[in-house]
Amino acid sequence: IQDKKKQVQAVVKTFPDFPKKGVDFVDYFSILYHPKETQLLNEIVIEAVDKHFADAGESPFNMVIGLETRGFFLGMVLSQHYNIPFVPIRKKGKLPGETECANYATEYEEKNAAEIQKDSINEDSKALIIDDLLATGGTLRMAYDLVEKCGAQVAASLVVFEICVLEGRKKLKDPSSCIAIYEY
Ligand code: PRP
Ligand code: MG
Repeated sequence: IQDKKKQVQAVVKTFPDFPKKGVDFVDYFSILYHPKETQLLNEIVIEAVDKHFADAGESPFNMVIGLETRGFFLGMVLSQHYNIPFVPIRKKGKLPGETECANYATEYEEKNAAEIQKDSINEDSKALIIDDLLATGGTLRMAYDLVEKCGAQVAASLVVFEICVLEGRKKLKDPSSCIAIYEY
């Protein structure tokens, strides 16, 4: 797994001062440009999830929630792998039907709101939340809040990249519930 991780990391591009000065942008899409490394990342993520839940017993999670935009890709992969539903959390105003809504802030945008469709989640739901990156933690915290607002549970979350100096993990009620593949 260490070799796989190195091979994938070798294709990750970072962009200083994007989208604004002082932010080092780690570009998840630079992996998807390379199908081989994308496949390796899929395997790494599945191994990491299985390891995280190794002692958890039967079906510790029963749905995958992907966070718009870059949490959708791996979210789909995991939903297919575990044969459980994929559910999106999208920025406000994009999802039809009844929704639950939460406000949040990110590293470079102060006011955001996101939604989940109410008929896609219930009290029996145990969610695995997926995103590409954990920075200030505003986005991931919002996703945990939305799941709880719907009366459901967060089993764990997974991000490909964690920007550790920003300490976003501390925003989570259970910081150890977040799996990070690469620490920056
Ligand atoms: C980026 C990234 C994470 C979030 C992390 O998404 O993809 O979702 O910021 O930041 P935080 O930990 O400070 O909340 P962005 O809002 O730029 O949207 P996108 O994924 O749709 O491009
Ligand atoms: Mg995002």
